[in-house]
Amino acid sequence: MKKFLTLILVAWTCNMFAQNNVNYDETRVPSFVLPNLLECNDGTIVTSPQEWETKRRPEILEYFLSQEYGRTRHDKVNVSYKTLTENTHALNGKATLRQIRITFSGAGTTLETIAMTLVPNQRNGRVPVFVAYNFKGNHSTLTDTTIVYSPGFRLVKKPDDPDWKRGCQMNRWAYDKIIDRGYAVITMCYHDIYPDANGKEMLDHSVCALFPDHALNDTRSDAWRAIGAWAWGSSRLVDYLYTQDWADLDRIAIMGHSRQGKAALWAGAQDPRFRVVISNCSGCSGAALAKRVYGENIGVITRSFPWWFCPMYSFYAGNEAAMPFDQHELIALIAPRHVYVASAAEDNWADQKGEFLATSYAEPVYRLYGMTGLNTTEWPGLHQPIMHDAGYHIRAGIHDVTDYDWERFMDFCDLHFPLAKR
Ligand code: GCU
Repeated sequence: MKKFLTLILVAWTCNMFAQNNVNYDETRVPSFVLPNLLECNDGTIVTSPQEWETKRRPEILEYFLSQEYGRTRHDKVNVSYKTLTENTHALNGKATLRQIRITFSGAGTTLETIAMTLVPNQRNGRVPVFVAYNFKGNHSTLTDTTIVYSPGFRLVKKPDDPDWKRGCQMNRWAYDKIIDRGYAVITMCYHDIYPDANGKEMLDHSVCALFPDHALNDTRSDAWRAIGAWAWGSSRLVDYLYTQDWADLDRIAIMGHSRQGKAALWAGAQDPRFRVVISNCSGCSGAALAKRVYGENIGVITRSFPWWFCPMYSFYAGNEAAMPFDQHELIALIAPRHVYVASAAEDNWADQKGEFLATSYAEPVYRLYGMTGLNTTEWPGLHQPIMHDAGYHIRAGIHDVTDYDWERFMDFCDLHFPLAKR
């Protein structure tokens, strides 16, 4: 009996080891064939934007809804806005900072979130806007003591956590540069939309609870979870922008870093109001090709963060070869709108090359529209951004958002946003 138990333990450990094994060796990337973007499930080949939009695109969207991020809910939720503060002298008088309480209600539940906007004071008409979640609360992006703590934050951070410190993640928010270049920002803490931790309490405090039958024991294979909820939440920020006379609705970009880079691509794939979609270091289940199984893989991510994905996704743990879709198709769903993917040289976990290749392999769909994607399959060197209808850069340094990244994001938006409306 003892021997038997030891055997089971050894087998279990080997299995865990195999599943947790992360490959960083390019020569061990398996050979794989990616699904053809333009080949419909019935074998026909799409040759026009119209066929893409009515036939192939819905097929691909369905893969992501049913097998990766889960089905986004579309039931009606009531929303109200209340401006809590307005400071017309923010950033040394360059910008107006507003905090807006957004109250959602549905299925007998009410949820409050707080959005923060920074709008350039020097402007001629409406301005372009970046929609971007913050990780550590609105208070982490500036030292301003009037910034209200994000309500979802208390659910995931103990009172003595250093993340309560004002301005603790200011380095990721190049506000001065953004305002100087005439862009506005709307941000919100992602914990307000789905507190980023496992368990029923988090789900119950998420926007998923605004919809009937949201229970954790909802074992439907396509039940949406955190990434789906975060994507939904960024579309709600766009709804708010639609009520504002300073926001140029034809020039809305979404920028997301890492797990929020995954959510930004998913939001961009579903909501055409995002004219430019930017993913920074989004890695596994974001911009990186799953079938390369380099760096973080589906086994690792679904075990560490099971609440991010629909239950079906873990079927592909250690089984990427069986996937009938891959992340280049998520990027292609954004066309003919513009997509920009950014990597960091020291971020092997996110498989930088896989992020580049997925962006590059979205090319056929841009071509259908007579547009140019990355127009190369050759991975560029550091600080050599590619900017066509799709864009990409890899910069030196670690997994982070730097001023260099923001500057390139703005270059890309400058290139593609229509001229300002007066
Ligand atoms: C972890 C996770 C990644 C994610 C990252 C982040 O490293 O494994 O998938 O992108 O956190 O959000 O910073």
